[in-house]
Amino acid sequence: MKYGFAKRVTHMQSSAVRDILKVVNRGDVISFAGGLPDEKLFPIDEVKTAFDQAMSSSPKVMQYGETEGVPALREQLAERMAVKEIHRDPENILITSGSQQAIDLFARVMFNPGDIILTENPTYLAALQVFQSYEVQVIPVESDEDGMIEEDLETKIQQYKPKCIYIVPTYSNPEGKVWSLERRRLLLKLAEKYHTLIFEDDPYGDIQFDEETVPPIASLDDNKYVMYTSTFSKTVVPAMRTGWITGPHQIIRMMSQAKQATDLHTNSLTQHALVHLLREFDLDAHIHKLQKVYKERMHVMKDIFDRGGDTLPIRYKVPKGGMFFWVAMPESVNTKELLNQAVDNGVAFVPGAPFYVNNPAQNTMRLNFTNSEPEVIEAGMKRLVEVMSEPIIG
Ligand SMILES: Cc1ncc(COP(=O)(O)O)c(C=O)c1O
Repeated sequence: MKYGFAKRVTHMQSSAVRDILKVVNRGDVISFAGGLPDEKLFPIDEVKTAFDQAMSSSPKVMQYGETEGVPALREQLAERMAVKEIHRDPENILITSGSQQAIDLFARVMFNPGDIILTENPTYLAALQVFQSYEVQVIPVESDEDGMIEEDLETKIQQYKPKCIYIVPTYSNPEGKVWSLERRRLLLKLAEKYHTLIFEDDPYGDIQFDEETVPPIASLDDNKYVMYTSTFSKTVVPAMRTGWITGPHQIIRMMSQAKQATDLHTNSLTQHALVHLLREFDLDAHIHKLQKVYKERMHVMKDIFDRGGDTLPIRYKVPKGGMFFWVAMPESVNTKELLNQAVDNGVAFVPGAPFYVNNPAQNTMRLNFTNSEPEVIEAGMKRLVEVMSEPIIG
């Protein structure tokens, strides 16, 4: 039987990272490839209690609910965002099934085929997948460690008239970098000047390692130009599939309509459990613990790089938060090929190329440090350094 798929599926691609993960999920391979928090740090008892409390509160918590999300949760989120100086009414918050759905719903209501979005290069792969599936043209902007570079950004805004600029400015995936305050202000200034939206994707903002913080771009905007999404995936548990998005009222309203047609609403039992969790569990103390543990793990990885000294031909920046190291090998090394050697040696990472819109740097790789305990990081890094020190250059 030949199935007549819609034309749009020709633009859908399976995630190269997920395909790699299938290969490396062998029991004896230590994997730094996934982008996972550590399940041993999940607040399981507290989540269990929160579900118990939600279920015993009223059968209504298991009834159909509002598409926009449980009102009490939206109020709590407005309060939590206000601490970061993002002041938004609960009505302008849409609860989504993870921030991944926020990206999808936004793309669905904003883009016609051929519309243009600007991104960094590399950027979050699954956002690129969304944009491709809606036939959006993705144009990369040059950037350095502080964010997009003004001249290239303004030139491309003038040239392409993009509808939106998509960024992960705080402890990004995959590069683990943080945009400077100056670049954040500049981006917003250009967005205002050219009436372009900014989509600020912020799943990692809470996983910070230093006292020093940079304000979310949404906190600098008076709810005209910035869509801001975040999630409980990295701070509570990803399986709850609960994220949220806030932005100009008309866009949130349109996204709610699109969500209605997609899944009616995000799992309301989970949302009610989150309401109880946020009331009774000190999530900020838990986040502090995650920051401390993940920072230690990041340092374990960094110390091993440092011990490699000159024999280890790599460049990297120490992440100030988030979950990843972004590493560049000499240009003669193709990390996709290096991955085969690494897996043979019992360790895995993600090659950097799939994260690029174009001109991939084949010598890059992303390493996750949050999902493994220090002894496992030590063991895995020993295996990785062996292949990195003597890559077979094909
Ligand atoms: C940059 C970025 N945005 C969005 C997401 C999706 O997160 P969620 O689990 O909330 O859908 C991720 C997940 O890793 C991510 O790295």
